[in-house]
This record gives sequence, structure tokens and C-alpha cells, in this order.
Amino acid sequence: MKAVLRASAPVLVMALAACGTDPAPGPTEQIVVREPGAAADPVGAPDSGLIASGKAAFNSCLACHGIDEGGANKVGPNLHGIIGQAAGSVDGFAYSDALASSGITWTKEELDSYIANPAARVPGTTMMAGAITDAGRREAIIAYIEDVSAN
Ligand code: HEC
Repeated sequence: MKAVLRASAPVLVMALAACGTDPAPGPTEQIVVREPGAAADPVGAPDSGLIASGKAAFNSCLACHGIDEGGANKVGPNLHGIIGQAAGSVDGFAYSDALASSGITWTKEELDSYIANPAARVPGTTMMAGAITDAGRREAIIAYIEDVSAN
């Protein structure tokens, strides 16, 4: 085996260069090194359970909000890619002055606070329904929005 290893050394060097800091897979066996916090299941997303429950919980938003890329606005604006966006900036949606001038950028924390109680976070908002009191449900919904927006 040693002779084989030596013979393939230049190939290994090229493989190393191609995969950056990743540990180089050996020619005869492969050791899978997992970063802390990485997916236990390499096929699914790290939080696939959370995202799945967020997708189900998002049904309560769907009456008023689309989430597909380029999807139409409904009673509320389309929420694709909302994380990181300025409040009131989805094209073609007629926002309340309250939300449009709120100065909010939709971080996950701001989303959490608004979804928990829209009128408390933005007095005068026209999002009159859809508040989610359960923190775990909000976390799941936000994880789902993030996941859909990235795909
Ligand atoms: C009854 C309809 C309705 C439901 C249900 C609803 N929303 Fe809304 N939502 C609105 C309306 C209308 C606005 C615009 C508010 C404004 O202009 O003040 C809005 C605005 C938002 C915004 C701000 C968007 C932006 O571009 O700044 C977010 C984020 C949001 N909703 C998230 C959600 C989530 C998540 C749910 C489900 C948990 C939900 N909404 C359920 C009607 C709804």
C-alpha cells in the first residue's frame, strides 16, 4: 500500500489544492470529519425538523403572504428574501405609513418581535391578524422563511 500512496502523491496534492482546507480523503479509506454543529444527516439541512414545522406553521401566513421567489403580493407583501431587507420595501405593495417609515431592517430578532405582536412593534400597521404568540412556532417560521429564501 505504501508504494501506491507514493505513486499517487502528485494527484493527492492536486486534490488538496482543489478542496482548500478540507481534510484530504485518503486513497484507500475516507474519514468523514464533521465540524461542530454541522448536519448529522448529510442529506438534510441542519435544522430540517425545525424548517419542516416552520413550513407547516407558515400556512397561517399564506392566506395573506406568498413566499415563492417573484410571487405576487396578496393582502400582505411577498416574503421571499425578507430577512435582511428594509421594512416596507417589497415592490408594488401599498404599505401603511407606519411600517414604511418604521426604519426597521428585518433581522431575525425584528421579525420575531413583529410576528409576536405586529401592532405592538409597529403601532398603526395594517397587519391585523397572523400574530404568533408561541416563541417556538415563531422560531420555526423564521427558519422556514430563511430556508425558502436561500433556495
Ligand atoms: C390577515 C392577513 C395577514 C396575515 C395572516 C399575516 N400577515 Fe404579515 N402582513 C400583512 C399586511 C397587510 C402587511 C403589511 C403591513 C403594513 O403595511 O403595515 C404585513 C406585513 C408583514 C411583514 C412586513 C413585510 C415588509 O415588507 O416589511 C412581515 C415580515 C410579515 N407580515 C410576516 C408575517 C408572517 C410571518 C405571518 C404568519 C405568521 C403573517 N405575516 C401573517 C397581513 C398579514
